[in-house]
Amino acid sequence: MGGRPDAAVVGTLINFARGPVRRAASPNACECQPMITLALSKGRIFEETLPLLKAAGIEVLDNPETSRKLILATNSPEVQVVLVRASDVPTYVQYGGADLGVAGRDVLIEHGLDGMYQPLDLNIARCRMSVAVRDDFDYAAAIKQGSRIRVATKYTQIARQHFSDKGVHVDLIKLYGSMELAPLTGLADAIVDLVSTGNTLKANHLVEVEKVMEISSRLVVNQAALKLKREPLRRMIDAFASATPK
Ligand code: ATP
Ligand code: PRP
Repeated sequence: MGGRPDAAVVGTLINFARGPVRRAASPNACECQPMITLALSKGRIFEETLPLLKAAGIEVLDNPETSRKLILATNSPEVQVVLVRASDVPTYVQYGGADLGVAGRDVLIEHGLDGMYQPLDLNIARCRMSVAVRDDFDYAAAIKQGSRIRVATKYTQIARQHFSDKGVHVDLIKLYGSMELAPLTGLADAIVDLVSTGNTLKANHLVEVEKVMEISSRLVVNQAALKLKREPLRRMIDAFASATPK
């Protein structure tokens, strides 16, 4: 993350956010209602958001596992769902490609919250961000010695902050997946990655040595949309709030 989108692209997306709010979802859609676009990623976020939508009376009419569609209609003419990569959800919401979205705390910290309002922790996709090493690596001794350690991660902002707070010197290696492989191949001494059951670490002879933070997914809302589409967005946020597991 961090790279700024091309100015022309940003212009187009900002115009989309500020553009006419009287867009119809389908030929049957009510012309007088603003259309709300919700950005979700396929997999666990989509699956865990569905019950919350259902509690709000919204049902998605396509199944992303069987359909190739990226824009999914719902039973509400007011709401459509767009499917994006998990790490692209904040970008869509920030620039108005979507009015609101669901993203992990990990993704939001890495991206930053510019142009977004974060009204709600949905308490879904719960896991933790942890430091893990090979089960034969003496992490305590390595950091005590004050030597630099190599850390592979997709979450460079979170990792940098964590080790800086601890006063541990690290060389960060950016990866985009399969972090568990890095200590096994000698690419890194440690990883910073998400852990839930611990099964992935165990299967790869890695152990968790530090918990960095608890992670869950949050609702994020485009700030301009919140002004322009205040009523329907408020209704959706309130519906999500009532459906959220406490
Ligand atoms: P991208 O496709 O952008 O690389 P990703 O592969 O991390 O993202 P998912 O695996 O769908 O996307 O994860 C989405 C979010 O779910 C993560 O940002 C995190 O907050 C949460 N998450 C990731 N792994 C787990 C897990 N094992 N258990 C529970 N929640 C998880
Ligand atoms: C995440 C994470 C770990 C795994 C941890 O990967 O990157 O690899 O979950 O979960 P566990 O502790 O329950 O084993 P994910 O399943 O999302 O696959 P990905 O690599 O495609 O993101």
